[in-house]
Amino acid sequence: MICKSLIFPALAVLVMVAADLIQPYSVNNRQDRKMIERTFAIIKPNAFADGNAGKILARIYAEGFTVIGLKKLYLNKREAEGFYHVHQGKPFFNDLTEFMASGPCIVMVLEAEGAITKWRDLMGATNPAEAAEGTLRREFGTSLGRNATHGSDGQETARFEINYFFSALELLV
Ligand code: CMP
Repeated sequence: MICKSLIFPALAVLVMVAADLIQPYSVNNRQDRKMIERTFAIIKPNAFADGNAGKILARIYAEGFTVIGLKKLYLNKREAEGFYHVHQGKPFFNDLTEFMASGPCIVMVLEAEGAITKWRDLMGATNPAEAAEGTLRREFGTSLGRNATHGSDGQETARFEINYFFSALELLV
């Protein structure tokens, strides 16, 4: 017979184990479990037109990202302006949005531990001329404006950028 005094501690342990199992994957509540994060990425029109989209995707997979969402789009100027609204008023805004509306691009949602920093590290510095050897912008970018790839610069930006192009239904895993 089970001693009554053991029932409550046993139940408490069961509840704790169950609560741990149903934690969303994005919650980092144990030291041995790192934060799984999502970021937003673009293969820009120059990289797409140069036939480098496949090579960039191969690097994304090789580096261990999971591609949660992906589509090819041909943005119009207004859509590009909405996406880059934080740069409105800057001297490069018109060139940037014209370029982003100049041809097809690929928009993606990438998942990995520390995905935002991991993707920015893989892209390299904004200006391809300053990007480190082995980074995507160094390899596939041709100028500051035509720098091959885009990535979110923080969690709030990632949320906005992912929602700008993808619905929750498109990101079911
Ligand atoms: P991206 O990471 O997509 O974010 C904004 C883009 O503006 C940037 O990459 C560059 O391609 C482009 N850009 C053009 N001129 C500049 C500039 N002077 N400073 C920063 N970004 C610039």
